Amino acid sequence: LDNGLARTPPMGWMHWQRFRCLIDCQAYPDECISERLFRTMAERLATDGYLQAGYEYIMIDDCWASKERDSDGKLQPDPDRFPNGIKPLADYVHSLGLKFGIYGDYGILTCGGYPGSKYHLEVDANTFAEWGVDYLKLDGCYTDFHNIEEGYVEMGKYLNATGRPITYSCSWPAYQEPEGLKSNYTKLAETCNLWRNWDDIEDSWDNVTDIVDWFSGNQDRIANFSGPGHWNDPDMLLIGNYGLSYEQSKAQMAVWAVMAAPLIMSVDLRTIEPQMKNILLNAEAIRVNQDPLGIMGRLVLKKEKIDIWTKPVLPIVKGTNSYAVALMSRRVDGYPRRINVTLSELNITHPGGFILKDIFSPQNEPVAHKDKDVIFIRVPPTGGLLLLATPR
Ligand code: DGJ
Repeated sequence: LDNGLARTPPMGWMHWQRFRCLIDCQAYPDECISERLFRTMAERLATDGYLQAGYEYIMIDDCWASKERDSDGKLQPDPDRFPNGIKPLADYVHSLGLKFGIYGDYGILTCGGYPGSKYHLEVDANTFAEWGVDYLKLDGCYTDFHNIEEGYVEMGKYLNATGRPITYSCSWPAYQEPEGLKSNYTKLAETCNLWRNWDDIEDSWDNVTDIVDWFSGNQDRIANFSGPGHWNDPDMLLIGNYGLSYEQSKAQMAVWAVMAAPLIMSVDLRTIEPQMKNILLNAEAIRVNQDPLGIMGRLVLKKEKIDIWTKPVLPIVKGTNSYAVALMSRRVDGYPRRINVTLSELNITHPGGFILKDIFSPQNEPVAHKDKDVIFIRVPPTGGLLLLATPR
């Protein structure tokens, strides 16, 4: 969507993966979907280095609303959990230097059963703008997935008409593609700043690999639609939660960086382990993800059950761009597998060769390689690496 926003993949924090629809504030006062949770997470984002690293949005997902619209037909938040309303929360978020995102649904109801925007698109767009919303995730539960685009296009017009810059995240492919329909990516790139292509992420390695397989399996159809202003979205980062090991977390970060995926964390920032935090804050992985060329990387080689993805990035040296290379092992055989590859096998070529740097292991000295050199790389089982190849 050409609205000047999301020129690089959006980065931020969203509650869904970690906190779901937890609304029992009596039993779980620190974790329930409430003003308190978002204020606390916004403070963590602003003070623990995340905002500085680029994670600028704090986003409410489903289950924030009251079950009833107000007497003017407007959405309103649950009065017990958001006693001050949404605007003061958005103001607070802005006062910390962050941007504020919220969730709606194009259907009659949200997936969690809260009021949807069907028949209320214009009033809801205006309400969001009045509240100071900077990012809208518009979900697609309770819609007819066959002709769902039109509603998203219409909502896009109302958002635009508010005059407030609002990053627009669409979900219509996530309701079409799993049903066997091929979504219209030209229309997606015109209408939305990002879109969820496929099923929801869940907190496991198996789920990460399923999602990655869908993206590589469909890369020829979808990759060219990613670019400044419009991104494919494989869903949230699981890093720091229950399901991924340290090595698996690096693999998710590596592949999301190379896919130019939105980097949307969903983790309890109060209790995250330092080593997981360091993955999320890795400046070079973020730089790969946020590369100004905005190219979605692709799977280029599978070798001994290790997937290798590459993405052209800056800098350009002597006419050749650099490449980020993500390796993701599908092996489960218990020791770091050593594979050998040449850069030319990965279609990475330059007369002078490249300097290869291991982004998650900065203690390893960068090494120069010619295109045809056999390079030995060790990848931990179910883990991943992120390399940067700069021409020399
Ligand atoms: C489905 C979406 O894909 C999820 O990311 C989340 O927003 C839930 N709905 C909320 O109900």
